[in-house]
Amino acid sequence: MNLSWHIEQYLPQQLLWLVSNVSGQATKLGQTVYLVGGVVRDLLLGYPSFDLDLVVEGDAVKLAQQMAEITQAKLLTHPRFGTAKFSYSNFNLDMATARGETYAQPGALPVVTPGTLKDDLSRRDFSINAMAISLTSNDYGELVDPYQGKNDLEHRLIRILHPRSFIDDATRILRAVRYEQRLGFELEPQTAQLLKRDITMLNTISGDRIRHELELIFRENQPEFVIKRLAELGVLRRISPFLIGDGWIAEKFEKARQLKKPNQLPSLYFCLLTYSFSESKIEQFLNYLNIPAKLSRAMRDTLSLKIRLSQLNKPSMKPSEIYYLLQEYEPLAIQANAIASESSMVHHHLQLFLTKLRYVRTYLNGEELKRLGISAGSEMGKVLQALHKAKLDGEVNTKADEEKIAFSLKLSNFHIAPKS
Ligand code: CTP
Repeated sequence: MNLSWHIEQYLPQQLLWLVSNVSGQATKLGQTVYLVGGVVRDLLLGYPSFDLDLVVEGDAVKLAQQMAEITQAKLLTHPRFGTAKFSYSNFNLDMATARGETYAQPGALPVVTPGTLKDDLSRRDFSINAMAISLTSNDYGELVDPYQGKNDLEHRLIRILHPRSFIDDATRILRAVRYEQRLGFELEPQTAQLLKRDITMLNTISGDRIRHELELIFRENQPEFVIKRLAELGVLRRISPFLIGDGWIAEKFEKARQLKKPNQLPSLYFCLLTYSFSESKIEQFLNYLNIPAKLSRAMRDTLSLKIRLSQLNKPSMKPSEIYYLLQEYEPLAIQANAIASESSMVHHHLQLFLTKLRYVRTYLNGEELKRLGISAGSEMGKVLQALHKAKLDGEVNTKADEEKIAFSLKLSNFHIAPKS
């Protein structure tokens, strides 16, 4: 089958230009080069691609260097691994010398040896990701599909290439479910059976690799479907017995998306995923997955704020009360609680802090207070805090109002503790 039409149709113009350049250069150098993996899958499904993976039978680094000279693209090479990364405008091209892999033991990183395209495809996760398209001029556009990936795409199936696949690399358990849910496919029955059999193999991979797979899941459009399915299959409780993938998660993840802050979404999902944890249970989870410090803080804060939410469930709270209760928490933790809380009053108070109170600043700063005769140190601290509180509670509207308060505090201070 020839997919030249798909390439023309679904790749953006600039990528097409790069592809035709690669094709020309490879032919000149006598190397064979292929599009591989996700891009082939997506071209067959009629989805556009912005990042390309290429496999070269020959020397990917040499071909990439040649390409960089012609196109003036940014190039990063790893000669030891035979790989090169090419950035051109907003697009990335990963080029790798064809290789085979063997696994010394389950979960170990693979031992890599140079190989053919067939070797390279045979080390991959699923049939739908183990296809290639030739870019070499004499058979440009020809599909290479040794594992009937196209047939599986048509039948909407996720299928591993051999029965030891999940044992070799248990991250494939999480990847299988991610693709299944993203594409609306099903696990092919034997793959589903082997996945369940090999769930214990998740113990053979590092927490870092599991975290990375969760991060990838959290980049999906609707990660709640993946989480729910992982729960159904018994995968989630293998990562932590306290993880729950129920309707609550689905509802809250969707609510998180409505905030329209895509950059903070993955971190917010992490905070919500562990919302049912107790403060002591979270530590084990953070350590196991080696969660970065800032996100760890937000996840811990989410839980310590959760148990104080009832203090925000009071009508007629002063803004300053809300501020002093929340100021010590990471904004992300406050956001997570605003999503999680079922009380509209709590939600309102948390949102008030996030959108308004945390940005409130006094009109007067330390320098101006000094000019008014307030001395630096604890007196200044007290005055600034009083001004901030008054501003939070709407008791001052102008700089002159603040000056009045500052003066009266100064006077009362002298009155209470006259200088000797
Ligand atoms: N791959 C694999 N096993 C893994 C990771 C990756 O076999 N554990 C292979 C697959 O062939 C995959 C390719 O490497 O298609 C590229 O990996 P990645 O960038 O993670 O996936 P894409 O298929 O490009 O998918 P996505 O659409 O999620 O970016």
